[in-house]
Amino acid sequence: MWVKVPQLAALAPAPGGATAPALGNRPMRRTGPGPRTVCRLSDLVEGRGTLVRLAGREIALFRLGDEVLAVDNACPHRGGPLAFGDQRGAVIHCPVHAWPFHLRTGRCAEVPGASVRTYRVRVQGGRVRVEL
Ligand code: FES
Repeated sequence: MWVKVPQLAALAPAPGGATAPALGNRPMRRTGPGPRTVCRLSDLVEGRGTLVRLAGREIALFRLGDEVLAVDNACPHRGGPLAFGDQRGAVIHCPVHAWPFHLRTGRCAEVPGASVRTYRVRVQGGRVRVEL
């Protein structure tokens, strides 16, 4: 499932400057690779992954109640799309060869040394923000 992320356009730096459009009354200053809004919590369905693109990366999001976990979409084995895998709680099974990856640590429970990158996610005011 692809999610359109119109918030990204709204938060993009203004041409020629580092200041993004104001949210509410406060101008938002972008000073680095801080958390970026990718979607709303209500866009995510528990038990089903969601693929988003952020800064040229494909990131798979998984909802666990009010918590969201994020990993690189590409399986480290042969690039299977983890967003379309079988989620069981905090474990995602790759849809290609079923390697299981823990969504909090990124580690594969069956293949020592195999892991996928995880991302810190914050849910603030219903917005899902991913830190690169
Ligand atoms: S591509 Fe993911 S387990 Fe093989």
